[in-house]
Amino acid sequence: MADVEEQLFPKRKERFEDRRKESQQRKLLDEFFDHATLVAISRLVTQGQFDQLDYPISTGKEGGVFRATSGEVFRAVKVYRIGNAVFKRLPAYALEMLKREASTSNYGRLVTGWTRREHSVLHRLYDAGVRCPRPFGYLRNVLVMDFVGDEGLPAPRLQTIALDDPQAVHDDMVVQVRLMVQKARLVHADLSPYNVLFHGGKPVVIDVAQSIEAEHPQAKALLERDVANFAKYFRRLGVPTSPETFMQAVGPLELGPKGG
Ligand SMILES: Nc1ncnc2c1ncn2[C@@H]1O[C@H](COP(=O)(O)OP(=O)(O)O)[C@@H](O)[C@H]1O
Ligand SMILES: [Mg+2]
Repeated sequence: MADVEEQLFPKRKERFEDRRKESQQRKLLDEFFDHATLVAISRLVTQGQFDQLDYPISTGKEGGVFRATSGEVFRAVKVYRIGNAVFKRLPAYALEMLKREASTSNYGRLVTGWTRREHSVLHRLYDAGVRCPRPFGYLRNVLVMDFVGDEGLPAPRLQTIALDDPQAVHDDMVVQVRLMVQKARLVHADLSPYNVLFHGGKPVVIDVAQSIEAEHPQAKALLERDVANFAKYFRRLGVPTSPETFMQAVGPLELGPKGG
């Protein structure tokens, strides 16, 4: 019987699947766009930061990233969920740092602090010459930045692609980390092939809100972890590197700004 039905209505299941996906998507979007978030987005539109949101590039527990149109160009708009979702996976040092900076432990205000933090870190990295999205405005839980991609399609994450020349990307990543550390005086602290996009044959660093000051007591350990992640990734691709080699090329954390 099921087979007959399948033959008569071959698309039925698929349509049901589509509808289910659609309603899941709707639920997801309703969750993101609570009233205050819509107000923030509308203000950013009024400010001329972008004209409209086009579609979600990525949605997760902590928030989503949307492509937006701004005149002739695209922008990326990151929307953090209001509530404690953003902080569930956050290590203790990062939450502490945020509470101190935002002088609050109210989750709503912390999300705003987190968004502001991502904005200011992006600024520092961008000004230091690190290849990362240029930040535009932010409001509450919404951050506007450069869209990294071509012809309206977002660039892939390093994790999802095969590199033609892993050595060149390795050397470039070393330069990015060195600029971050020596010039911006920041440690990314969540650097992995998931948080690096590949655009125009070059790596682009994203997802920077948890970055910490080079002077922070945990900075060294976090830098070592970042570097170990990447050394492992590149070794798997056949690049003769190691955490020590990578770290040496980055230079010591203690050196201060003159090392840049
Ligand atoms: N500026 C951007 N341009 C294009 N795509 C982006 C941009 N920023 C983020 N993305 C996409 O959205 C995904 C999630 O962004 P990310 O900042 O890593 O947030 P999180 O990991 O906290 O959800 C990325 O993996 C990438 O695919
Ligand atoms: Mg990420």
